[in-house]
Amino acid sequence: MPSAPQHMPVMLDEALAMLDVKPGGRYLDATLGLGGHAGAMLDASQPDGRVLGTDADPEALAAASRRLAAFGKRVELRRAWLDAAAQVAVDASFTPLDGVLCDLGVSSLQLDRPARGFSFQREGPLDMQLGPLDQTQTTTAYEIVNQWPAVDLANLIFDYGEERRSRRIARSIVRQRPIETTTELAQAVVDAVGFRPGSRVHPATRVFQAIRLEVNRELERLAEFLSQARSVLRLGGRLVMIMFHSLEDRIVKRFLRDQSSGSAPAFRTLTRRVLRPSAAEIERNPRARSARLRAAEAI
Ligand SMILES: C[S@@+](CC[C@H](N)C(=O)[O-])C[C@H]1O[C@@H](n2cnc3c(N)ncnc32)[C@H](O)[C@@H]1O
Repeated sequence: MPSAPQHMPVMLDEALAMLDVKPGGRYLDATLGLGGHAGAMLDASQPDGRVLGTDADPEALAAASRRLAAFGKRVELRRAWLDAAAQVAVDASFTPLDGVLCDLGVSSLQLDRPARGFSFQREGPLDMQLGPLDQTQTTTAYEIVNQWPAVDLANLIFDYGEERRSRRIARSIVRQRPIETTTELAQAVVDAVGFRPGSRVHPATRVFQAIRLEVNRELERLAEFLSQARSVLRLGGRLVMIMFHSLEDRIVKRFLRDQSSGSAPAFRTLTRRVLRPSAAEIERNPRARSARLRAAEAI
């Protein structure tokens, strides 16, 4: 049997403190992943706190359900994309919630399985789907890489990858078509812009991010989820968001700024400045490096 994927929940202490997890509380973990945060929320809300966990990924749900089995009826898991999570909480009679957690992006389970296509370091198909496609998804990674016109590809890499050398990279990708695998795609990027051994970030990182965000419509779903969050929280309930890149962070930051000002604010921001992981956490878990956390209280 393959060993259980290792996963260390990111900024766990900060997330639990900001969620103000308590016995009897009801919480939604809308990016369940391997259930690391959810398990800690269940521990911290002993003996009767409850957690609803949602994720687009059936593999994540299966892994989390094994990890959280000991909590019995205190935990419920459902497959849902982020923009449907609030409705799932309503349908499961979990609302009003005391806290909602979102730890965005991909899990180590997804990243470490080459067959999922998220990693450019190990060969896999051009997949990058967080979960089975739904009717709102119109494109696949393979299609973007092999069929999009160079100009659209360049725009995507510029907008969603925040990559200045997007045109050069897009031209290289188009030239090397057909591209079948993650490692071929990574090579097309390196051919365009080079890669100095020892540099911290591989140039394919941003290209993979861009394609992933498009395939899964992650930023649209995030914005939609935020717009629904207040309606499922009780007064004083907490919204805690963990982001991994500046596009996600900008959406959350602007949302909280807009919602915590004006004549009828819906939230009070609890993190005047964004929180970052401690040096000790980054040392223990290098994947935490780019994490940022923002939290707010429903008013
Ligand atoms: C970083 S992992 C969460 C890890 C989790 N907090 C833990 O401690 O195990 C992010 C998870 O959210 C899911 N996810 C990301 N964006 C999503 C979206 N837009 N809709 C549904 N699930 C999403 C991914 O499938 C992944 O399993």
